[in-house]
Amino acid sequence: MKGLIKQERDSLIINSGGSLSNKELLKNVIEHVDESINKIVIFSEFLRKEYKTKLLKGLKELTTNPIQDYLQGKKELEKTRIIKEAKKIMKPGMSSTDIYNKLLTPKITPRFINSQLKTRIPKGYKKVKEYKVKESSISIANKGNQFLYILKPFELKLYYESIKKVSGVIKELEEADFNISDLRKDVLKKINSKKIDNKLKNVIKRHSIGFGLLDIIFNDKRVQDVYFYSSGSNLHINHSIYGDCETNIKLSGKDVENIATKIRVASGRPFDDSFPVIDYELEGYDLRVCGVREPLTFNGIGYAFRKHRQKPWNLSDFIENGMITTEIAGLLNFLVDGQCSILITGPRGSGKTSLLSALINEVPLNQRIIVIEDTPELPVKKLSKAGFKIQHLRIKAPLKERTTGYELSAEEALRTALRLGESVLVMGEVRGEEAKALFEAMRVGATGNVVLGTIHGSTVYDTFDRVVNDLKVPATSFKSTDIIISCANLRRGESLLSDRRVVSITEVHKNWTNKPVFKEIARFDNQSKKLKITKLKESYVINKIAELKGMSVNQCLNSIKLRAKAKELLVKHLGLRNPSIIAGYNTKISELLSQKDKKFLSKLREFLYSATKE
Ligand SMILES: Nc1ncnc2c1ncn2[C@@H]1O[C@H](COP(=O)(O)OP(=O)(O)OP(=O)(O)O)[C@@H](O)[C@H]1O
Ligand SMILES: [Mg+2]
Repeated sequence: MKGLIKQERDSLIINSGGSLSNKELLKNVIEHVDESINKIVIFSEFLRKEYKTKLLKGLKELTTNPIQDYLQGKKELEKTRIIKEAKKIMKPGMSSTDIYNKLLTPKITPRFINSQLKTRIPKGYKKVKEYKVKESSISIANKGNQFLYILKPFELKLYYESIKKVSGVIKELEEADFNISDLRKDVLKKINSKKIDNKLKNVIKRHSIGFGLLDIIFNDKRVQDVYFYSSGSNLHINHSIYGDCETNIKLSGKDVENIATKIRVASGRPFDDSFPVIDYELEGYDLRVCGVREPLTFNGIGYAFRKHRQKPWNLSDFIENGMITTEIAGLLNFLVDGQCSILITGPRGSGKTSLLSALINEVPLNQRIIVIEDTPELPVKKLSKAGFKIQHLRIKAPLKERTTGYELSAEEALRTALRLGESVLVMGEVRGEEAKALFEAMRVGATGNVVLGTIHGSTVYDTFDRVVNDLKVPATSFKSTDIIISCANLRRGESLLSDRRVVSITEVHKNWTNKPVFKEIARFDNQSKKLKITKLKESYVINKIAELKGMSVNQCLNSIKLRAKAKELLVKHLGLRNPSIIAGYNTKISELLSQKDKKFLSKLREFLYSATKE
């Protein structure tokens, strides 16, 4: 059998089969080894044995003096036959470092990485997926219900020379005197002026103006959220396919402080003992970061990085991923069109804000919308571009750091909004003193059309309790809410994976004084795992809308069915998901329904057909 040398991915497999002399083998190795090779697997018992024993001998006798260990290790290495032979056939000009780099993959974690990284898949875990994010690779491994996200950054594939280059530039940047106001721009300019490979420039950018290894994760389109808990456990992420995954990265104290400094510089806001919370939109990243620290935490800093979607969520997306059904989409479209006041409730991260942004897309285009938020989360810019008339008002966060002049209190913003005239009012999150003003405005009908908002809570009673007892809104004002939509993270049976689902749509009745009367108009069916509409005919809200529109209840029910069919049709047109097409489509639905057009669906099909062509 002849010797065999082949390249598999980034490894070079050498099988001497006993027929090649060691010299021939080495010659082949040197010829085949290039930058893309990471690992050499030698199936030659003799070479492997010698190489291993000799190398280990030197390393076993480690002392406390790293320099001495290094020199000793080097000496041991020089003694090995593999290196001796390689030296004989070395090309002129090659240094011994070149040989070591080519024959042995040094396991060097560059000094500019402070985090701990374990790139091996732990025992008992099985790799289920592997993909690339630019030059870095990601593996997903699982053991039962637990998923691991293993990042192998490009940084670890660098040879000593490249690491030296990168470290040099990073040091230079650290020592340079940049103007803080143009820091990012100036640093980028400096990096780009260097005559080095673009891949190395990206590494420098990550570890100077970026968030280090986190930048790679932020660039992974499949990652939605990244969490770092102050308890010091590994970084966690929320993966769009595998849900919550622990990563192989443990941030060091230095990393955590560096992130804090970067957020402080970018936001111009304090984040220290006296202002232990920071909520900030990171420019250039399209993500929002929330940081908490002592004394609010027991121990250290915690972060949550939330990515914004490139495209805003819409009802079609939710139908597709099972959060709602087409039937429910029809109902929601009807409720928004029928000028209802809707509160979306649910626990943390259950999809409230996402659903709210999808509902804004359902508001008829001719209506004015006022969005009130403390942290810009709703896709106002994208919706405005789609033709929605939106006035965005920024308010002061309740646990606010320093007040900048232009931020209104929630109550002031609300009053301003009401002065701006009849509009759909969208309250990003109802959680503070503004609640009173909001519900009062809703009660007296000052808000005009629809009011939409999200509020934290687990059930409708919980929400009522929060609004009335915690936020001190009179119970009678709470009655002005028509509909409460409850979202939840539902566990998939015994699995740790969960799905975001709308679990109930409840109407708030008006004939009560202290004890609220709620009625579910859609309830989650555990068997089919779907939200199903219950008897709508007696629904208070449907009757109210019927009156408003001068329609019979049956006509309303029919309208909901037709809207559902229209939504089903839209879902089938996969490509058509941008906010402006959805808005145009909804306008078409209303137009056809008001004309009682018999060719409702075929005309909608025509609309979609022409939208596809545009
Ligand atoms: N139906 C869904 N399917 C999959 N992912 C979803 C769904 N709805 C929302 N998400 C994602 O879940 C994350 C949390 O969503 P969102 O911010 O809307 O939740 P929230 O309830 O408003 O959270 P908070 O309580 O922090 O305000 C986001 O990354 C969002 O893109
Ligand atoms: Mg939210």
